[in-house]
Amino acid sequence: MTATASRLEDDLVISTERLTKRYGETIVAVDELALRVRRGEVYGFLGPNGAGKTTTLRMLVGLVRPTAGHATVLGAPPGAPAGLARIGALIEGPAFYPYLSGRDNLRVLARHGGVAEDRVASVLGQVGLSARAGDRSATYSMGMKQRLGVAAALLKDPELLILDEPTNGLDPAGMAEMRAFIRSLADGGRTVLLSSHLMGEIEQISDRVGVIREGSLVAEGTVAQLRGRAGLRVRAEPRAEAARLIGELPGVDAVAGDDGLLEVVVDTARAAAINRMLVQAGIAVSAIYPHTASLEDIFLELTTTGGGPRS
Ligand SMILES: Nc1ncnc2c1ncn2[C@@H]1O[C@H](COP(=O)(O)OP(=O)(O)OP(=O)(O)O)[C@@H](O)[C@H]1O
Ligand SMILES: [Mg+2]
Repeated sequence: MTATASRLEDDLVISTERLTKRYGETIVAVDELALRVRRGEVYGFLGPNGAGKTTTLRMLVGLVRPTAGHATVLGAPPGAPAGLARIGALIEGPAFYPYLSGRDNLRVLARHGGVAEDRVASVLGQVGLSARAGDRSATYSMGMKQRLGVAAALLKDPELLILDEPTNGLDPAGMAEMRAFIRSLADGGRTVLLSSHLMGEIEQISDRVGVIREGSLVAEGTVAQLRGRAGLRVRAEPRAEAARLIGELPGVDAVAGDDGLLEVVVDTARAAAINRMLVQAGIAVSAIYPHTASLEDIFLELTTTGGGPRS
């Protein structure tokens, strides 16, 4: 292994090889998944309902045994006590004692986990729950329960946070707050793996995104990479001649898209030059504008072709 390769391995907080979970004969919840999460990043794990997000996260913390393949989390197999001490996780609706206050629930967890009790007030403050911390958790709204769950995940001051749909149940203001909060956690040096079925959410918060569909990773990269290179849309007549002329420019492709528009993969800064070139060649240019695909388009394309949700 080269020095660079080993450094890269050191920087992987999570890596899985052919990680697979089957339920019974027919359900393949997670299918030979290769996931790589790097130190200090927010990794957005994006997929529609039933894609296998929760099952994957459960395997990473040792709550579910893989049927095949393996995972390494913070250098140890999932569920190893040494690793678990450095991971905070919130996976699908945390369970709390309903008759205890939020604060007392966290105290119980702190005592159980050998965490200093002054962490409780600190994490309650971090998630914005201090004012209601004395109320029984049964009286909390869904969003407040979610915040309490995140507070619980933070108790150990973990270097890796695994959060399954952390903004579930939050109102828009709460979602924005939670996003900023998660971002601040990663900026403080933590690694965050969070799942969501909302592309807008993942887009705003993640350094890198992995898209899971039917248990497999179908795309991975930064949001910009997933969007692909920006380009131009050109409406020009005659279209075939315009396509030929544009295609002759070095490193530029023009293909006929929907609605009679030419889709040109090119630096959008060249719009004026391309326009001038076409006009000088006697082509009538009626529209030329920059275009980037929305992450929503990409997400739908990646997750819906050839099959619907499976849950
Ligand atoms: N305990 C189980 N027994 C049988 N099938 C299961 C079990 N847990 C999950 N599955 C199936 O595995 C697939 C993946 O489920 P999973 O909960 O991991 O999806 P998800 O991406 O978290 O979905 P959602 O966005 O709805 O939370 C689904 O088809 C689900 O029905
Ligand atoms: Mg889920």
